[in-house]
Amino acid sequence: FISKDRNMTIKFEDITDHTGTIINNFDASRDVNDEKILQIKELIQKKHFICFRNQNLNEDTLLNFARQFGTLESYPEKDKTKKNVQIFNVANVSSEGDHLNEDDPRVVLQKNNSRWHTDSSYRFYPALFSLLYGKEILPKKSVGGQTQFCNMLLAYDDLPKEMKEKLQPLHQVHSYNDIRRLEPSLPELSIEEKQGFPPVTHPLIRIHPDRNMTKSLFFTSNTSLEIGGMSFKEGKELHSWLVNYIENKKFHLTHDWQINDLIMWDNRVLLHRVIPYDYSKFRRAMIRGTVEGITPVYGPYSQIN
Ligand code: OGA
Ligand code: MN
Repeated sequence: FISKDRNMTIKFEDITDHTGTIINNFDASRDVNDEKILQIKELIQKKHFICFRNQNLNEDTLLNFARQFGTLESYPEKDKTKKNVQIFNVANVSSEGDHLNEDDPRVVLQKNNSRWHTDSSYRFYPALFSLLYGKEILPKKSVGGQTQFCNMLLAYDDLPKEMKEKLQPLHQVHSYNDIRRLEPSLPELSIEEKQGFPPVTHPLIRIHPDRNMTKSLFFTSNTSLEIGGMSFKEGKELHSWLVNYIENKKFHLTHDWQINDLIMWDNRVLLHRVIPYDYSKFRRAMIRGTVEGITPVYGPYSQIN
């Protein structure tokens, strides 16, 4: 069977004028060729988020597709993923298919995903793209379960001038271990896991050499909340101001899941979070492949060649 769309260029529909596009006629497990990958790269650069509808993927075919965009990250905690270390189980369901208790660490991590973040900001080179495939989603009329995105290019542009100036020299601390400060019930990391990911800092204003040095705002709420060089109190106040500021819907894209959606986003310019749902009542199971970053986060004072 050869899909009749296989040699056609990809058709897409924009979701909002600033963020997101939907592709209906592409099968990520079989339609991969240089021309289409190039088209997808151009689309993601322009719209930051793509939803590929009606996919039929497993761990291997998801990872194979994700590898078209670069090297893949491995899960930061040892031996937590059963087969492929590059698969992140984004689920309140175990890899054996059991619906987990609300206090299971794997579910607590899902709750932490409801804080605005980008993937692996705790790395010196944070993730480039994430690809998330929805195997089990919430029933139609239930509350929550959407994945929401915030366009940080727009968020930067709209900042008051004084705030742009205030943020210019500042960095936030990002630390994998500090997820435990927000979620104290999580089990301790091993020494090796901690040493693998020492705290890093990233500029609050991010420079994009691939976008003519355009700036975006960059902070997260799911690891450390400290701002380097400020007192803890002052840093938290600034962080809260930023969190409140990006709640403005004009920066957002909300993805309502359909079964077998594959979504892909650019972590350099979007923050994301899951809208909380009833974790004990509903099952939600997704798998994620993550494309490694290829540069550090550049800031206003970086020397960029
Ligand atoms: C992730 C994530 C959000 C969601 O997989 O990185 O944050 O909607 N997921 O599950
Ligand atoms: Mn995430």
